Amino acid sequence: MTPHAGTALVTGASSGIGAVYADRLAARGHDLVLVARDAARLRAAAERIGREAGVAVEVMAADLTRPSDLAAVRDRVATDADLRLLVNGAGLGPLGPSLDSPAELYDGMLDLNVRALQTLTFAAARAFADRGGGAIVNIASAVALIPERFNAAYAAQKAFVLALTQGLAAELGGKGVRLQAVLPGVTRTEFFDRAGADIGQIPAAMIMEAGDLVAAALAGLDVGEIVTLPSLPDMADWQTFEAARFHLGPNLSHRMPAARYHVG
Ligand SMILES: NC(=O)c1ccc[n+]([C@@H]2O[C@H](COP(=O)([O-])OP(=O)(O)OC[C@H]3O[C@@H](n4cnc5c(N)ncnc54)[C@H](OP(=O)(O)O)[C@@H]3O)[C@@H](O)[C@H]2O)c1
Repeated sequence: MTPHAGTALVTGASSGIGAVYADRLAARGHDLVLVARDAARLRAAAERIGREAGVAVEVMAADLTRPSDLAAVRDRVATDADLRLLVNGAGLGPLGPSLDSPAELYDGMLDLNVRALQTLTFAAARAFADRGGGAIVNIASAVALIPERFNAAYAAQKAFVLALTQGLAAELGGKGVRLQAVLPGVTRTEFFDRAGADIGQIPAAMIMEAGDLVAAALAGLDVGEIVTLPSLPDMADWQTFEAARFHLGPNLSHRMPAARYHVG
């Protein structure tokens, strides 16, 4: 018997990365709350996972772009005293240039990729800080680091997820709350079908299986990584990137513009 590890709430649990998290977290002894819109898929997953892993699995069907649904999930996160882990996996994005997609799509993306993720992250962060323990996993994307190579709005929203996670990790230091941003590269899920794109057009060498992605992300969580880049062969490259960013720090705010602008 795996010891009870507390409850994990996973958004986007009906398919892809979130669905794999649900399986893997159940195997680690977590009871689950599964969140997505497709109630039938969630119920089927809940029945199977409950039977196979012997944990309690609850379904919360919710469209996280709807304020009332988001509030219900937020309240569950805020009040469930057994909650130990939040995985913000729900997300979507188009491929191709930003102006090729209708403006309405971007409102929904902002609501899901940004507003819902921030709302649930804050609710969990408050509850976990009060209890002195808990972990929040935010699924960002490697495109957060390279917006020139993907739909600009999606990349910007994923950069938000990365910055929110890093900033909150700094703010909550010492309060026992672990934060992790996971930055997948191309991962074989329904993401591309939903975007109307063919994953077959992408070189196979660039595509990770969702099971491998989640296994690496959980390994990164276990060792306390705040940012996990499952594809990156050498973590020293990330550390160099971060060191360059922090090197800018002392010079990001001065009384006078830099000499090259010839002001004053
Ligand atoms: N696949 C990749 O290459 C890749 C790379 C980098 C980052 N990511 C990120 O990984 C995360 C998971 O995506 P995935 O690749 O696993 O794609 P996926 O298979 O399409 O899964 C997306 C999940 O989000 C849920 N969802 C979509 N709209 C929702 C809404 N309005 N309210 C609630 N849930 C909603 C979907 O469930 P319902 O349809 O049942 O609601 C589904 O469970 C996303 O944040 C994505 O941006 C993916």
